[in-house]
Amino acid sequence: MAKNIVLIGFMGTGKSSVGSKVAEKLKMKFVDMDREIEKVTGLPVAHIFRIHGEIRFRSEERLMAQKLGQRDNLVIATGGGTVLKKENIEALRENGLLICLDANPREIFDRVSRKRGTRPLLKKNFTVEDIEEMLKVREEYYSLADYRINTSNKGLYAVVEEIIKIARQQGS
Ligand code: S3P
Repeated sequence: MAKNIVLIGFMGTGKSSVGSKVAEKLKMKFVDMDREIEKVTGLPVAHIFRIHGEIRFRSEERLMAQKLGQRDNLVIATGGGTVLKKENIEALRENGLLICLDANPREIFDRVSRKRGTRPLLKKNFTVEDIEEMLKVREEYYSLADYRINTSNKGLYAVVEEIIKIARQQGS
């Protein structure tokens, strides 16, 4: 019974792409919280925000965190705002190792700019400064991670290897 590996961090830090590779290498199951919420609700995340509002999304996210926190052997990619709720962190930490992926604001900007329109919290003409502002506000939550990995200027596989090393040290 392996502990879950829970990837937290801002939008565009690579939680999903890194997480799916880590899961593949460690023969664990990969779960992307946003995709699971989309399956449960039958709606893309951007639609949930637009039609039902952020409160509804956060409530689905909370239920998902509670549910996944009770499972094991998972690599979980959280949404960038999942850890803003203390109860979500508590649920996911219960049986999981929390690893935060960090990246510098410029790199985040470049990454999320490629997929404009899929991230409802970023307004249409968001800037690097908007991202810096959100990172500042969220820092206190991301800092609750057990480990932090700076992904800036690192390839996907270097980050994957770092996580695997941490997981092995921890006996995950
Ligand atoms: C959010 C991040 C998104 C998604 C939702 C809210 C956030 O996930 O959960 O749009 O509050 O930062 P990603 O981090 O996968 O983009």
